[in-house]
Amino acid sequence: MQNLIDLELVKKELKRKLPLKRYIHSLNVSNTAVKLCRVYNVCKDKGEIAGLLHDYAKYLSNDEMCKYIKEFKIEIDEVINSQKDLAHGLIGAELVKRKFKIQDLDILNSIRYHTTGRKEMTNLEKIIYLSDYIEPNRKFPGIEEIRKMALKDLNKATLMALDNTIKYIIIKGLLLHSNSLLARNNLILEMNASGNICPDIREDIRW
Ligand SMILES: [Fe+2]
Ligand SMILES: [Fe+2]
Repeated sequence: MQNLIDLELVKKELKRKLPLKRYIHSLNVSNTAVKLCRVYNVCKDKGEIAGLLHDYAKYLSNDEMCKYIKEFKIEIDEVINSQKDLAHGLIGAELVKRKFKIQDLDILNSIRYHTTGRKEMTNLEKIIYLSDYIEPNRKFPGIEEIRKMALKDLNKATLMALDNTIKYIIIKGLLLHSNSLLARNNLILEMNASGNICPDIREDIRW
């Protein structure tokens, strides 16, 4: 893990770039991620940095977003194209890579995919996704259940957060990104893997 990142400099830059409320949210996500990293044996320095920087690109104008998408050759699909806010993770990862010389792929992917999730998320990706959802200032019915589950079962808690988000998207009539669906299915498959009734099914296949 690279440990050359000056966290004070990161915080100073965040304070300059984000409204106060979003800056506090970033600190909260970072602190929540550090706690979860301890529980799940993930490098807490990575959790701290990814949590701090996950919303780095949240307040770009539409023009700035389009400029960076072109400049960094970020591939966007029709869902992201019509809901540009979904791109703030993708752009943020590219910006922090350059601005703070962050090379760690796990940190970058945690920032990149924190809005949608994706198939085969690493534990750090799950932790950042979940921390964004349950940080102390988040308030909605059922959050305490997810906070409790977050300390017991990372997959289950991430799935609960994803399910709630997907339900909200559907109720609001918004577009659902396919990465969220892939993330959900993959989490369920991961959770079911130990109870797979035919683990060796491939060996039994005969043509
Ligand atoms: Fe975000
Ligand atoms: Fe966030």
